[in-house]
Amino acid sequence: MRPLHEAWSGVELVPQTAYGLRIYRNQSCLLMHTDSPETHVISSILHIDHDENSEPWPLVIEDFDGNTNEVFLESGDILFYESSKLLHGRPRRFNGEWYSSIFLHYYPKGWDGEGLKLDSHYRIPETWFENFSSPSKSKFSKGGSEFLQMMGTSFVEPFYEDGVSGLKNSIKHNARSVKTDQACVQEETGLTCS
Ligand SMILES: [Fe+2]
Repeated sequence: MRPLHEAWSGVELVPQTAYGLRIYRNQSCLLMHTDSPETHVISSILHIDHDENSEPWPLVIEDFDGNTNEVFLESGDILFYESSKLLHGRPRRFNGEWYSSIFLHYYPKGWDGEGLKLDSHYRIPETWFENFSSPSKSKFSKGGSEFLQMMGTSFVEPFYEDGVSGLKNSIKHNARSVKTDQACVQEETGLTCS
């Protein structure tokens, strides 16, 4: 699998972790979050399969332009993404019996992840939330949430359906047709993305 990730990212990679097979059951959900910047730099989700009677269950991922995307994976699809940069999760509840995927994580050769976590915390000013309480103060407040509730390393916007304000105008993707620089989906058998 590493050559596929190196071809997609354009850099030599060191494997970090493979989770799975992970099986989600009925009513599962996963809050929006980012992964560890020390190790989870170039990542992918390989969707194994889901029960045939389950409802489509989108991966929600916010791209670098601030768009909220909902990606529907089919058996054998791989979604490549920068999981420590892009907010992602499955905030909508799964309606079905089972849904199974594998999660792969790599970091670039020579990557110095030491201290990155602390550094990323310090980059956010302690008063960041004040911008969200007064729409006139922030360019980010337009259409955004007035309240963000932290849940461990994840968050929810409690006044919005499924806890994510961006879902109200999300972009829906069938996995086999997605092609962007940030969230790229390809079939298992061949590269289709640059
Ligand atoms: Fe994640």
